[in-house]
Amino acid sequence: MSLATVYSRAQLGIEAPSVTVEVHLSQGLPSLSIVGLPEAAVKESKDRVRSAIINSGFQFPTKRITINLAPADLPKEGGRYDLPIAIGILLASKQIIAPEVLEYEFAAELSLSGKLRPIKGMLPFAIQCLKSSRSLIFALKNQEEVALVPNMCAYSAKNLQEVVLHLSRTQLLNKLTLSEKQMSTQRLLDLADVKGQFQAKRALEIAAAGGHNLLFVGPPGTGKTMLASRFNTILPALTMDEALSTAMIASIKGMSNIAERFYERPFRAPHHTSSAISLVGGGTNPKPGEISLAHNGVLFLDELPEFDRHVLEVLREPLESGTIIISRANAQVEYPAKFQLIAAMNPCPCGFLGSQVKSCKDTDVQIKRYQQKLSGPLLDRIDLQVEVLEVDHHTLTNIDRQVSSAEIKARVTVARARQLKRQNKINAELQGKEIDQFCVLGNNERLLLADAIQKLGLSARGYHRILKIARTIADLETADLISKQHIQEAISYRKFERFRQ
Ligand SMILES: Nc1ncnc2c1ncn2[C@@H]1O[C@H](COP(=O)(O)OP(=O)(O)OP(=O)(O)O)[C@@H](O)[C@H]1O
Ligand SMILES: [Mg+2]
Repeated sequence: MSLATVYSRAQLGIEAPSVTVEVHLSQGLPSLSIVGLPEAAVKESKDRVRSAIINSGFQFPTKRITINLAPADLPKEGGRYDLPIAIGILLASKQIIAPEVLEYEFAAELSLSGKLRPIKGMLPFAIQCLKSSRSLIFALKNQEEVALVPNMCAYSAKNLQEVVLHLSRTQLLNKLTLSEKQMSTQRLLDLADVKGQFQAKRALEIAAAGGHNLLFVGPPGTGKTMLASRFNTILPALTMDEALSTAMIASIKGMSNIAERFYERPFRAPHHTSSAISLVGGGTNPKPGEISLAHNGVLFLDELPEFDRHVLEVLREPLESGTIIISRANAQVEYPAKFQLIAAMNPCPCGFLGSQVKSCKDTDVQIKRYQQKLSGPLLDRIDLQVEVLEVDHHTLTNIDRQVSSAEIKARVTVARARQLKRQNKINAELQGKEIDQFCVLGNNERLLLADAIQKLGLSARGYHRILKIARTIADLETADLISKQHIQEAISYRKFERFRQ
């Protein structure tokens, strides 16, 4: 029978649903048609596969060839079906005999000469393949990603011929071994580079310990960008599961050197001219954006008011839910986007409002207009709002040793461990009832907070956020109870309210 079946996978969000490639050869005028919702790059597969087969020393059957990519309702994109299609044609035309072909899944694009080319989204493909208990055959250049998955039975090949030799058991490919995943050891940045700015550093420590969002507000040149760019040097390493889900997004985006920084929290700093699509994701077959690349890590928005207001508003939903759903005509996909937002801005157009060295020249109207580029609901989601003012010359020229990132990271790690042990999540993720349960206040503390809420005009969300920050401050002190000092310090990080009044 001239029918062959080969397995591959599509890509839909971070899922890699199974795709069955069926190849049927029948009598009739020589032709090749691909059915089953293929997009342009898949249709072009015909020409690549034909050349690859011929240039690998096989015959291209002069028959009527029908290729079905099932299920038909799943959108199919890219050149990833080249290899399974080629193998299907060779099987259907009996040029190779491979009784075990159904124990494999295939993922690679083909060059005209028959070389295997890497595909985007190899990591989710490999993880799903492992779950289906099949072996994987893929392009050598994807090796770094596949080798991240423990217990994977996978074989990388350079070209079509090698795959054929393996399947016919003439010459087996080498089985892939697990790669050494690493924390990059080269640390170029360190918080010790920043002189003074103790309050800002303290705020970074609290943000890191509890997973809170943070905004730096201050005059030009005070070190806001410098401080924020060093934030992920004080964050604890990713767990294996976190690292894999973060790496999956990088894989779908086709990024390189994924293994090199496997356990490191991502730090994404999109420019303020970025579009909403590049920030949250999108496109016809929706791809993840910066917020998903920052999954389990940090999204740094420098010069916050310069971002398009519409772009900032779309962040509100993922900031709350930790995921982003992108709807398009042919698909709706969900990408994880659990990121910590770190932002920096000047307090006014000239930048010097509140400065100790220069006076602000803006009018009240100008200042208001500038600050209103940020909506209340967005600011409400930024737990820590901290003023960063100029450091004096004495501090700047001082050569005293500054606290290093490693020291802060050690404290952050202890505080996080306390939270996970107590409530199985970090403080920023506490919701409703959990806040009441884990952020218990004494009478005095409650009165103090009630008073502050009235003065600052805080929303219910703002109230909960102060509570959570106070909890984190207590955790950094390894204190079980939240004290008045903890609450006072937490309230002091709502500085921006002062500017907006
Ligand atoms: N506290 C500090 N310790 C050491 N260097 C500093 C400090 N503050 C500022 N600098 C120096 O000033 C430069 C500018 O700092 P940075 O870019 O972080 O300022 P900024 O607050 O982001 O300013 P802007 O509002 O203009 O963006 C730094 O590259 C650094 O050389
Ligand atoms: Mg800056």
